[in-house]
Amino acid sequence: MVKIREKSVKTKKKRYLCTIEQKNYVEMKEKILVTGGTGFIGSHTVVELQNAGYEVVIIDNLSNSKADVVDSIEQITGIRPAFYNIDCLDFTALRLLAHKEPDIKAIIHFAASKAVGESVEKPLKYYRNNLNSLINLLELMPQFNIQGIVFSSSCTVYGQPDVLPVTEDAPIKQAESPYGQTKQICEQIIRDTVKSCSPITSVLLRYFNPIGAHPTGLIGELPNGVPQNLVPFITQTAMGIREQLSVFGDDYDTPDGSCIRDYINVVDLAKAHVHAIGRILQKKQLEPVEVFNIGTGRGLSVLELVHAFEESTGVKLNYRIAGRRAGDIVKVWADPKKANEVLGWKAQETIEDTLRSAWNWQVKLREKGVQ
Ligand code: WQD
Repeated sequence: MVKIREKSVKTKKKRYLCTIEQKNYVEMKEKILVTGGTGFIGSHTVVELQNAGYEVVIIDNLSNSKADVVDSIEQITGIRPAFYNIDCLDFTALRLLAHKEPDIKAIIHFAASKAVGESVEKPLKYYRNNLNSLINLLELMPQFNIQGIVFSSSCTVYGQPDVLPVTEDAPIKQAESPYGQTKQICEQIIRDTVKSCSPITSVLLRYFNPIGAHPTGLIGELPNGVPQNLVPFITQTAMGIREQLSVFGDDYDTPDGSCIRDYINVVDLAKAHVHAIGRILQKKQLEPVEVFNIGTGRGLSVLELVHAFEESTGVKLNYRIAGRRAGDIVKVWADPKKANEVLGWKAQETIEDTLRSAWNWQVKLREKGVQ
């Protein structure tokens, strides 16, 4: 059981985290609001923020995740984050939260719709949700002295880069989907807001392909319905939930004909957010809006990933070569130099351990009767 205790010291009230049993006090860092904090990347980031000593408040509308993720986070860290079932589209609810949770110093904004295919069918849902949620937060921040925002962006903004590996100053291309478009527009909304002398600053993290799960197997990716992304489809096929994996095309201009991506371990990705928060709060930013590619710097083809899964887990995968998927880009992987040298973050996990963590998560879900 963990309680937050106020312990007055000479200069100012400090907030301490103490475990009742051990009675040891660890000075708690600032309070961080994580929107979408019960989601795949959000939940892993909450764990890493707590491990780094931050106090975390989660808001999530549970449209694509479950509230019991908060229990799993507590099981992992021993600290239960505050959780509110709030939609970022509800400005009044956000204001009430800011009054209820004073001293929020920064925000990590994950809450957004993120299915590429769905965004093509329902563009207005994506524009309304992804843009208005961000606008609400940006309006709120100066009113409550919230210093900065870390924004969950995506390598999708690059489209098919002309030069690989792709750096942060690569040209932003016409997005392949409304989802990708919303990421580009949100980045611009943040830039324009900061430029308008708003006191806030921002770090934009452009994720490559997040995969894997927490090594405890207590949190991971839990897609609604049929998985769109490769790795959850692989693990569900390996578990027998899906009949067969379709490899979307082997006739691309790549060594084995299948598409190439930069697959980043979700715990590594979560740690990048802790670095970004530190940059904002310690006022280390070199400019008010900073951009970082969060990838490994290594490209893997779909077929290489399938074979790596089989070798690292010992589980044979039933797959076939199918036709290309509309909207897929052929190859993209990051140049992570700036993130390594400026953000001070570097991917640590191997692809083999990452795929094993994804499979371990799938096995745990089966044991819990979830899938
Ligand atoms: C990877 C590769 C598919 C499924 C998307 C978003 C991106 C980010 C990550 C949020 C592609 C192939 C897939 C399958 C397959 N999302 N594939 N069979 O499309 O690179 O990126 O997710 O941040 O913004 O665009 O990821 O996992 O869907 O596909 O062959 O059943 O796997 O064709 O080449 P993608 P993905």
